[in-house]
This record gives sequence, C-alpha cells and structure tokens, in this order.
Amino acid sequence: MTDLSVATKAGKAAFDVDAVRRDFPILDQQINGKPLVYLDNGASAQKPIAVLDAMDRYYREMHSNVHRGAHTLGDRATSAFEGAREKARSFLNAGSTREIVWTRGTTEAINLIANGLAGRLQPGDEILVSHMEHHANIVPWQMIAERTGAKVLPVQVTPQGELDLDSFNSLLGDRTRILALTHVSNVLGTINPIAPLIEQAKARGIITVIDGAQAVPHYKPDVQALGCDFYMFSAHKLFGPTGIGVLYGKAQLLEEMPPYQGGGEMIERVSFERTTWNTLPYKFEAGTPAIAEAVGLGAAIDYLDGLDRPGMEASEAALLARANELVETVPGMEIIGTSSNKVPVMSFKIAGLHPSDIGTLLDQQGIAIRTGHHCAMPLMDFYGVPGTARASFAFYNTLEEVEQLFTALQKIQRLFA
Ligand SMILES: Cc1ncc(COP(=O)(O)O)c(C=O)c1O
Repeated sequence: MTDLSVATKAGKAAFDVDAVRRDFPILDQQINGKPLVYLDNGASAQKPIAVLDAMDRYYREMHSNVHRGAHTLGDRATSAFEGAREKARSFLNAGSTREIVWTRGTTEAINLIANGLAGRLQPGDEILVSHMEHHANIVPWQMIAERTGAKVLPVQVTPQGELDLDSFNSLLGDRTRILALTHVSNVLGTINPIAPLIEQAKARGIITVIDGAQAVPHYKPDVQALGCDFYMFSAHKLFGPTGIGVLYGKAQLLEEMPPYQGGGEMIERVSFERTTWNTLPYKFEAGTPAIAEAVGLGAAIDYLDGLDRPGMEASEAALLARANELVETVPGMEIIGTSSNKVPVMSFKIAGLHPSDIGTLLDQQGIAIRTGHHCAMPLMDFYGVPGTARASFAFYNTLEEVEQLFTALQKIQRLFA
C-alpha cells in the first residue's frame, strides 16, 4: 500500500493510516470482487473495534435500565451511560453535563430545539438559515414557522459554495430571532466562519443553533469558545453507533424551554392535578434511552482522543489535495464547492453522465460514494443540478484509494460519457 505517512506539524510520529485501518474490520473486504474503497463517510462513518467491543461488553456484562438504582447491574449501566455523557461534554468542551442532552441524532436535536423555541416566536419574526443547509436544518424551522407565523429566510451562497456575507448582513435584522447554520456543508465541504457570525448574532440577542453533523468527524469544536447557544451532532458520523446523537444547549435556555416529549424519566413528580419536570438534562430524555449506543459513542470519542489529531488532519488534507490535483485527469469533471476552507468532501458532476450512473458504475468497482440531492434540494436548485456525485473521505482513507477513485472515473468517462 502507498505510504501515506504525513509528518505532523508537531513533529510527532507520522500518522500511520495502515495501522488505523486495522482498527476498522469492515474496510477489509471485497465488494463486487474488488477491495472495498469506502468514500461515503459523510453519510455514515465506519466503526472501530473499540466501539464494537464496548457495546458488546456492555450487553454481555452490564446491561440493565439506567437511573433506577435498585441493583448492581443498574448501577453499572448508569455509570457507563453517564460516563459517556461526560465524554461527550469533554469532546465539545461544554461547561457541564447538564448541557448535554442525548437525542436520536442531529435531526431529532434540531426538531427538539425548534419545538422548544416555538413559544418565543411571534408572527413576522425571522429565522435565518442558509441555502446550503441539510433538510434537517430547514424543515423543522418551516414547521415551526407554519405554526407561529414566523418566516424562514435563507442566507445566499456564492458560486464557490461559501456563505455570502453580504446576504447574511442584509438579512440579519430587527426581526431575526434565530440563526440556524451548518458548521460544515455536507455537499460542498465548506467550513463556515461561524464564530464571527455567532458573535454578530449574539450582539443582537439572536439565538444561535449550529448543526455540527459534518464538522465533528474532522475536528473538535469548542462550544464555549464558539459561544453558540446550541450545537448538535450524530454519533454515526463520528465513528460511533446509529440511533444516538448529542445536543449541547446552554443551561439557561434549556431550563427555559418546555420538554419535547412526555413520559418516564423526564418528570420529577406526576399527578393528575399537576406534573413537574426533572432537572437537566433528563427533562429532555423521555423514556428508556439508547444506553448501549451512548456507551458506543463514548468509546468512539476515546478512540478519536487516542489518535494523533494534527497527523489525522494533515492526512485528510493530503487526501483532498490529491483529489483536487486529479480532477483535470477526468474530462468534463467539475467540482461543486471550491472553497479553500473545506473538509475532505468532494461533490462533482461529469458532463454527459448522470450522478446515479456514476455511483452504480463505481460500485461495480468496489468504490462506495453517494449520489443524489444529499438532502439539500435548495442547494441543488441553486447549482441547477438534480443531484451530484459525492466522495467524502475519512482519516482511514488512503491516497491510493483516492487514485483508485480517479482511475475508475477516467474509465467510466471514456466508456460512457
Ligand atoms: C449537515 C447535516 N445535518 C444534519 C444531518 C442529519 O443527520 P442525521 O440523519 O444523523 O440526523 C446530516 C446527515 O447527513 C448532515 O450532513
């Protein structure tokens, strides 16, 4: 295999991608008679053995319901579950585990916040999103706008796929109540300059909601430094299990918000006359939670903490740089999203080829990418395309895999375009 070692800025040992790949057993298989090249990490990332083992061990040795306290297994499950919450807190650098709410994922977290903030909205109030949002950060706001008479306004993007700051400045106004922005675009890979935008919004008392689904697989956000009110992500994109996600919210705002769902766990006391709510974060966690999944996410965070981060980031940057270099080797190939500040995500089209055909033909060669609208139809409309093909890389991908992708694309272009 090509030596992908990338010397780190810190001068530490080189990032050893071959060693890292051995932690992900799923990568070592053949698809359609070819070694799997997994480039669909933006949709869902693969899981290291550490995550598989932690979940297996949880079920073998300590499963019980949590917070019921009557026996030893219940105590073990609770401490594993709450231990994972502490890991999520530390990952985001939140001030307290009271500010870390488990959800099913990014989508549920945004729905929770949208519902929780609905009571603050009056007819004519404005919710700013952007033209590059995933549907998960558009539709919940539209549903709340419908209920309250508020309006959802999109900040425009530039042809390069960056937020148009003139559009942002012109839309930010006296009626803006909520700014809901993606940290990183799942289609374009653009890393948005959220820190100054949050600062501008905060100066006007606007609530800030940041969709971190595509940011966290590539670097660790610091919610206190960012100063946002809410930040959310899904575990399955962070090398953890499906079915669980994290919502960070400032304690004061979470306190002021009504619960999202009713049931067990989220109450303090129930009577037919009056029911009162549990303390944070449990007020937002009705019903038996995804316990093994929380443990799995905790293991994913530990695993990532054990990696050489600067080395990992340099290795990912090298993958994107190599992909960009190779674009000109495929006639008619065009990248959508050419910001200089990107995570390793490459959306593209090839003249004369439908994106779904590109996906199918690549799959025949063992290469997994994603095609379609990527749950970002307004962005597809902006670029005037029905969909794109998207290769999204993770730290376990190799330069050799990038080269295999382009060799396959050259072949497809020659034969079918
Ligand atoms: C930017 C962004 N936001 C939200 C989501 C929704 O995540 P989930 O389906 O895990 O809730 C995705 C998933 O692709 C995404 O890329």
